Amino acid sequence: MAAIDVETFTTGQIGLWNGTQDGKDGIVDYKKGKQAPRRISCQGAGLLEGRSDQPGPRPVAHVDRDLPNAIVSLQCALGKDKADNLLKRHKRWAQVNLWRPIGRPVVKWPLVFANHDAIPDWDYDTHMARVYSVNDPRIADRGGKSHNCILIDDERYAYHYASNVAPDEALVFFSFHSDPKMVLPHGAFWDNKTPDDAPPRRSLEVRCFVFFDDDVV
Ligand SMILES: [Fe+2]
Repeated sequence: MAAIDVETFTTGQIGLWNGTQDGKDGIVDYKKGKQAPRRISCQGAGLLEGRSDQPGPRPVAHVDRDLPNAIVSLQCALGKDKADNLLKRHKRWAQVNLWRPIGRPVVKWPLVFANHDAIPDWDYDTHMARVYSVNDPRIADRGGKSHNCILIDDERYAYHYASNVAPDEALVFFSFHSDPKMVLPHGAFWDNKTPDDAPPRRSLEVRCFVFFDDDVV
């Protein structure tokens, strides 16, 4: 396993929420293949176009689920009765993601994390934009999700990434947590140091719900 080099820095680009033209909620219609009826605006999105290996990593900073979406997902996975019973018994719960490369180290579109420790009042409702989905084909694979949660820009974020993560290494993080302090916004980003001949990113992710026993009631 490679040693962590904390002195390595880079520059790059990632999509961040920048509102809609009319100031209302963003909507993505997957059937139409584009944003409709309102066009969403992500900072850096224009620069990212043409570089993304679609379908592939999402170059937009996000959390996988906020509380409403996490509850729907849990109910889809376990059935409503079991999910509601777990939620009644546990105050603290989370979705944990384990992410790792497949076959070769990730050079293109590495995963980056937006650390919000310097934003004391960070919360889903105040720092994430809800972008609603219509005709989303991914629901069949990952369960119901009424909206995506896209990060609103804030200069206080500190961005961290691990370069050249190898297939025998993994990144583990909270992609949802009942305590907003614990969740880690993330996304693929364009690393300006990416070599021209870098192969497409190949990676996989496993997601699971966890419930903490210390608050069992
Ligand atoms: Fe994600």
